[in-house]
Amino acid sequence: MSVAMVLAPCVPATYPLYFIQVSAGVFFVSTWVITLTNNPTSLGLFFFHPLLQSLAISVFTYGILTLQPTSQAKTKAAGLTRHQLAMAAFGVPAIALGALAIIWNKNLHESPHFTTWHGTLGITSIVWLVAQVAVGGGSVWFGGRLFGGGSKAKQFWKYHRLSGYVLFPLFLLTAHLGGAWSAWTTTHSSVVVRVLAYWISPIILLAAVLVRLRTSKMQFF
Ligand code: HEM
Repeated sequence: MSVAMVLAPCVPATYPLYFIQVSAGVFFVSTWVITLTNNPTSLGLFFFHPLLQSLAISVFTYGILTLQPTSQAKTKAAGLTRHQLAMAAFGVPAIALGALAIIWNKNLHESPHFTTWHGTLGITSIVWLVAQVAVGGGSVWFGGRLFGGGSKAKQFWKYHRLSGYVLFPLFLLTAHLGGAWSAWTTTHSSVVVRVLAYWISPIILLAAVLVRLRTSKMQFF
């Protein structure tokens, strides 16, 4: 039973998907427009940070979507392939490079690290991501050999799933803090764009992703 099934009489099944596409699109496009229209050549390595982090969050959103409502074995297998490709080949490298860009930039300017909630939550979520990938990859790659293979390894999927549904909001909260509150965005974008991109969009995005979640896939006892 999913939250979406409970809400089915009042929320048609495709609605959350539209909300996700629009809110992720507003967040992504606004971030790129703010960065590209603010004298980008003067930004140094910081230039890559908002671009890559917003790209990574959009890819993570796709990676989650492609696994949600999987009713048949065939769709499930294809979804799992798309999920791994999106996450491991695009999302994780993008967010890692985006974090590296800002950390390196701070080193070059001899600025102190992780002095804001945004920076602290950012580095925390990146470290968490390493564990997320290790459990996800370890339970699938090489037949899940890392966790004993076969159905033994599949037992770990529910932890990966639950952890993913906590980590995703953490990324959104991090993006909210960087986008809505940082000294750079508050001096380089209008309040209307900031409210739309870093308040309204992440809230709608999170709500719509959670509405599609199936609690039946998270039985722990
Ligand atoms: C989930 C996505 C994001 C992650 C994981 C992340 C991570 C980080 C980290 C770890 C730092 C601190 C680096 C250090 O102190 O050495 C940082 C700084 C910064 N980020 Fe992000 N970031 C994300 C999204 C964004 C977005 C979307 C924006 C802007 C639209 C942004 C703007 C900034 C700014 C201005 C700083 C420098 C000021 C500060 O340290 O708070 N970030 N980010």
